[in-house]
Amino acid sequence: MATRHRRLHHLLILLSLLSGVLLAAADDSAAMSKLLSSLSPAPRGWSSTAHFCTWSNVKCDSNSFVTNINLDSAAVSGTLPPEVSQLSKLQSFAVQKNSLTGALPSFQNITSLQQIFLDDNQFTSVPDNFLAGLTNLQIFSISENKALASWQIPTYLSDSSNLVKFYASNASISGVIPDIFSSFLNLQDLRLSYNNLTGSLPGSFSGSEIRNLWLNNQDLGLSGTIDVLSDMSQLSQVWLHANAFTGGIPDLSNCPNLFDLQLRDNRFTGIVPPSLINLPSLLNITLQNNKLQGPCPEFPDRVQFNLGLSTNSFCLDKPGPCDPQVSVLLEVAGALGYPMALAESWQGNNACPQWQFIHCDAQGKNVTIVHMAKQGFSGTISPAFANLTSLRTLVLSDNKLTGDIPAVLTTLPSLQTFDVSNNNLTGPILSFPRNISFLYGGNALLGKSGGGGGGGGGGGSGKNPGKSGGGSGSSKKSPSVGMVVGVVIAVLVFVGILLFVSYKCYLKRRHKRFSVIEGSEQGKELMVGNGVNGVSGYAGVSSDIMSQSSGDHGEMPVFEGGNVAISIQVLREVTDNFSEANILGRGGFGVVYKGELHDGTKIAVKRMESNAMGTKGMKEFQAEIAVLTKVRHRHLVALLGYCINGHERLLVYEYMPQGHLGQHLFEWEEHGYQLLTWKQRVTIALDVARGVEYLHSLAQQSFIHRDLKPSNILLSDDMRAKVADFGLVKNAPDGKYSVETRLAGTFGYLAPEYAATGRVTTKVDVYAFGVVLMEILTGRKALDENMPDEKSHLVTWFRRVLISKDNLRKSIDQNLQPDDETYESICKVAELAGHCTAREPFQRPDMGHAVNVLGPLVEQWKPSRPQEDEGDGVNLHMSLPQALMRWQADEGTSRMFDDISYSQTQSSIPSKPTGFADTFSSTDCR
Ligand SMILES: Nc1ncnc2c1ncn2[C@@H]1O[C@H](COP(=O)(O)OP(=O)(O)O)[C@@H](O)[C@H]1O
Ligand SMILES: *[C@@H]1O[C@H](CO)[C@@H](O)[C@H](O)[C@H]1NC(C)=O
Ligand SMILES: *[C@@H]1O[C@H](CO)[C@@H](O)[C@H](O)[C@H]1NC(C)=O
Ligand SMILES: *[C@@H]1O[C@H](CO)[C@@H](O)[C@H](O)[C@H]1NC(C)=O
Ligand SMILES: *[C@@H]1O[C@H](CO)[C@@H](O)[C@H](O)[C@H]1NC(C)=O
Ligand SMILES: *[C@@H]1O[C@H](CO)[C@@H](O)[C@H](O)[C@H]1NC(C)=O
Repeated sequence: MATRHRRLHHLLILLSLLSGVLLAAADDSAAMSKLLSSLSPAPRGWSSTAHFCTWSNVKCDSNSFVTNINLDSAAVSGTLPPEVSQLSKLQSFAVQKNSLTGALPSFQNITSLQQIFLDDNQFTSVPDNFLAGLTNLQIFSISENKALASWQIPTYLSDSSNLVKFYASNASISGVIPDIFSSFLNLQDLRLSYNNLTGSLPGSFSGSEIRNLWLNNQDLGLSGTIDVLSDMSQLSQVWLHANAFTGGIPDLSNCPNLFDLQLRDNRFTGIVPPSLINLPSLLNITLQNNKLQGPCPEFPDRVQFNLGLSTNSFCLDKPGPCDPQVSVLLEVAGALGYPMALAESWQGNNACPQWQFIHCDAQGKNVTIVHMAKQGFSGTISPAFANLTSLRTLVLSDNKLTGDIPAVLTTLPSLQTFDVSNNNLTGPILSFPRNISFLYGGNALLGKSGGGGGGGGGGGSGKNPGKSGGGSGSSKKSPSVGMVVGVVIAVLVFVGILLFVSYKCYLKRRHKRFSVIEGSEQGKELMVGNGVNGVSGYAGVSSDIMSQSSGDHGEMPVFEGGNVAISIQVLREVTDNFSEANILGRGGFGVVYKGELHDGTKIAVKRMESNAMGTKGMKEFQAEIAVLTKVRHRHLVALLGYCINGHERLLVYEYMPQGHLGQHLFEWEEHGYQLLTWKQRVTIALDVARGVEYLHSLAQQSFIHRDLKPSNILLSDDMRAKVADFGLVKNAPDGKYSVETRLAGTFGYLAPEYAATGRVTTKVDVYAFGVVLMEILTGRKALDENMPDEKSHLVTWFRRVLISKDNLRKSIDQNLQPDDETYESICKVAELAGHCTAREPFQRPDMGHAVNVLGPLVEQWKPSRPQEDEGDGVNLHMSLPQALMRWQADEGTSRMFDDISYSQTQSSIPSKPTGFADTFSSTDCR
């Protein structure tokens, strides 16, 4: 009973539905009368009393279905009713140039529709999917409908594959141009001017048939390059003006019909390509208000052009080639994709006076330095650099450069420094001559051609491969099965250990708070929790953190004197996850961050990447750290600990709040520092001498700093100095030569025998110290490219000053204005500087001598302050052996100087070596 009822019901519903469909399909009258009543006034020739197929400009097919409606310029207002979407046989719907308003009807699924003209009205919105399913649509025009609510070009438009013209200028379109153009078989006109389109040109423009492309005057502006135009061979009129396009003008020689090209008011850079100038059909072009570079283009007479000479960056204001050096640099810029920064700064036809990143020789002629670190540049390194034959320094570090390093750069005759570290470069690691400082660390793929063995890696730590002897053993050509199995097992074990360690750390962190206590010696001893004495404990134990932390100690030491592995989590925490804001500086090996412990104690964390180190390098690193953490001196920046995390090595130092000496000597005004007084300078010199003397005097593992320079001399708040960055490579114990494995030092500070042979003794530090003294005296850098050539190398110039005897007063830092007593002190330091930089190492004194010369000079101003000097038992005014003797006598045995012994003859005899010429006798000073 119930089922029968329901069936009947269903049948009725079906019937009524069917009849409804038939009725609607059978007759467009309802829709047409609704349309008529929505328009005012009624269009001419339309009347409710006549059949709609007889209305003016309405056409029907043989079954009285409406196929065409044409109300072009019919002076009607009102709205279009939604019933328009029921006109199922409609082919052309034209209501352009009226005052229609309101929401548009949907045209969805009216598959017969071929043309829709809605332009020049005041429609207020477009419904969802209003153009969906229009597979036969050929022309759609909605331009000049300023009142429309913002809408986007629908991606389903790709179903209208027969589209020929799409006009939607000034129609409130926002969003991106969808990437659907490969769907259109014959799209010829695309007009989207005066909208709010953003993003870049879609890749599917490539290969399209578009002839007429109007994208000009977008509110925010379309961006990105217009490179895709070079694959649009049918283009004839292209309006891209008033946007935010960037990059160069592409080669448009594939577009033989292009006659009108509007590029003005964008951010185009680079050289106007010759192919554009020679375009056969070109009649009309505008280029003004961009940042176009290179030669000013010269178009044929038929072309009407606006170049905007003063609003672009052409090298000359008339056609003709640029200066050769400028041409080379433009090629360099081209390889970088003509970045805006270069286009804005590199203007005119002379690179020397004020182009950013460029420095020239003293004559202002030849480029000697190109320094483009940290500019976010992508692209490649141009081989054109090789044409800059006077180039001495080329720094491209910390960018996003890709590709190979051009081999031709090895031919640069004057090159001294070449730094490409921290990019994404690939290809082989070039071999530069020994004397060139070639830095390439931080390029993960460099030197890893094809499927090379991962373990080997380059030598050293990303420095000149020609020089690094101590790299890891090179791997065999193809790893054996045994090796692979071994590696897999090792990895598994390693992961297991890591998991275990993390678990332990986690347990430990739940119990312990990380705290800091004042140590009794210089600086601070940092340690975890209670109990463990900062200095004893693990000293002397193998520094292999793996075995240590997985061993039976129960607790992993965080900070601890002597042997200090620090977890990466702790370092992350205290540096605010290595935030940019905490960067103190960047050096050749990595970035230095400031960190703050929970109690406010500040530390400096140096984060280095050393992919190439290999496991052997890692062992050495740990072994060295184990020693260095024990090396403590009040004039050495204390190394508090280290961390190994994947490829990273992190070193933790005490924090030095006043930056480095270089900033105080050369950039004091920029940093807002006071000028260093002579008294401060000589005190700093003494501090440095003492620190280095201590390093040299460590008997078992005597350290040679090898990179002494002002940026490695850090200052405390009371302007006392500590030497930083010392001793990552130790010297052979008995003063034998050691071939360098670490770095080339820095030009301007290299002792001649070191530069020539790479052999290192403590005297290379003495030489560098002499150079630092000269910088302290003159306020001038060791190498100053801005000086005329004869003055640019400080040592050469200053030693000449010393010989000529009477020039000294003129040559010292003019800000000092010394009185007589001060001048006398200056003379003594000048003499010491000359002595320390003697050509032959045996002619140079040792650091103990420097301490003995400088000590009394400091004392002149600073009569002893016993409370300070007794604090740590190292007398400021004594050389190390003297101090040591006293200290040991006082204390009996020393924890701190465990490793130190000295011989009376080694460093404390203040006599001049016999080879030292009398040139620099103190009588020179008057
Ligand atoms: N312990 C520290 N305290 C404060 N600033 C530091 C410390 N160590 C390094 N810096 C800053 O970081 C910069 C880079 O340090 P570093 O990598 O040692 O330089 P480089 O490799 O040039 O010797 C230094 O010039 C200095 O400004
Ligand atoms: C249009 O056609 C599609 C596919 O045939 C269908 O899914 C959709 O519901 C139709 N829309 C209208 C409004 O008829
Ligand atoms: C253009 O679009 C952006 C968002 O893409 C919007 O912030 C801006 O207001 C729009 N401009 C106008 C005039 O509507
Ligand atoms: C050049 O373009 C301008 C503006 O687009 C137009 O007014 C002019 O007629 C064009 N000239 C030629 C030769 O096409
Ligand atoms: C660079 O030098 C080479 C060889 O001398 C020359 O062929 C090339 O034209 C030069 N490039 C530029 C941009 O001057
Ligand atoms: C400058 O460069 C030119 C051309 O490369 C070269 O001939 C000239 O010697 C250079 N001048 C100096 C001072 O290096």
